[in-house]
Amino acid sequence: MKIIRTKAELRALTESWRRAGDSIGVVPTMGALHAGHLSLVERACAENDRVIVTLFVNPKQFNNPEDLAKYPRTEDSDAAKLTPYGADVLYVPDGAQMYPEGFATTISVTGVSEGLCGGARPGHFDGVATVVTKLFLQCDADRAYFGEKDYQQLQVVTRLCEDLDLNTEIVGCPTIREEDGLAMSSRNLRLGAGPRKTAPMIAQVLEDAARVIARGGHVEQTIDKAKKALLSAGFDSIDYLELRSVPDLKLMTSADRPSRLFLAAWLDGVRLIDNVFVADL
Ligand code: PAJ
Repeated sequence: MKIIRTKAELRALTESWRRAGDSIGVVPTMGALHAGHLSLVERACAENDRVIVTLFVNPKQFNNPEDLAKYPRTEDSDAAKLTPYGADVLYVPDGAQMYPEGFATTISVTGVSEGLCGGARPGHFDGVATVVTKLFLQCDADRAYFGEKDYQQLQVVTRLCEDLDLNTEIVGCPTIREEDGLAMSSRNLRLGAGPRKTAPMIAQVLEDAARVIARGGHVEQTIDKAKKALLSAGFDSIDYLELRSVPDLKLMTSADRPSRLFLAAWLDGVRLIDNVFVADL
């Protein structure tokens, strides 16, 4: 696997692949790779002739400077983890490659980016939409792979490709979980030993609430009960716990359309998110 740091070098390579008629799959990441990321890489390698994994900790999508500063940077071990998968390139642009002086464009997706993480993290999805548009164009991507763990992000990116006529097909992939059900995330490592034992409650509470709602249970009451259970188990606060339709993410008061439950909660100073499927009616 080649490590490439400049757009020019990447372009020379993608052009040679194009001349050979190869398809190109891309897996955008911010590094600190775990089995969730690697499941996307595995799928990309199975479905494309060439695969580029991108590693860029995108400052534009962090609304909290401390969160950006604390984000783990582990390029060497990330590269080592990718080796067995057969990706062709690890693309690691720096800030000057992505946002050279004078950079002044923002891609902003309305609708699906509103509420949930868009409400709790102002500007976050503008930062995501802007960086992934650049990455797709730089990589000349036929397909790009995203996790359902960040379901709202997946919908924002799908919408932007449709709206801007990008030739990149967005492929959504299931959430990979630890054995105890906790959705894998680089943030899990920041949890202390005690809170780490509490964290899997997120998945349990979501699954229980989803089952109740799918059977016709009262949505508001079920959500209230789930929130109380989390807070009394030691969660610091809950940014949101909501039922939303898929794929358009409209707020729902009953599960009479395909929908998912979405949660963001703080535990031990760490913000954790998850979502589960509720009903396909
Ligand atoms: P990052 O958090 O590094 O995630 C990269 C990709 O891995 C995303 O598509 C995310 O949904 C997926 N992913 C993370 N945890 C997962 C899990 N447990 N199971 C399945 N997939 C999982 O998301 C970003 O980076 C950034 O916003 C990015 C898209 C790279 C733009 O900067």
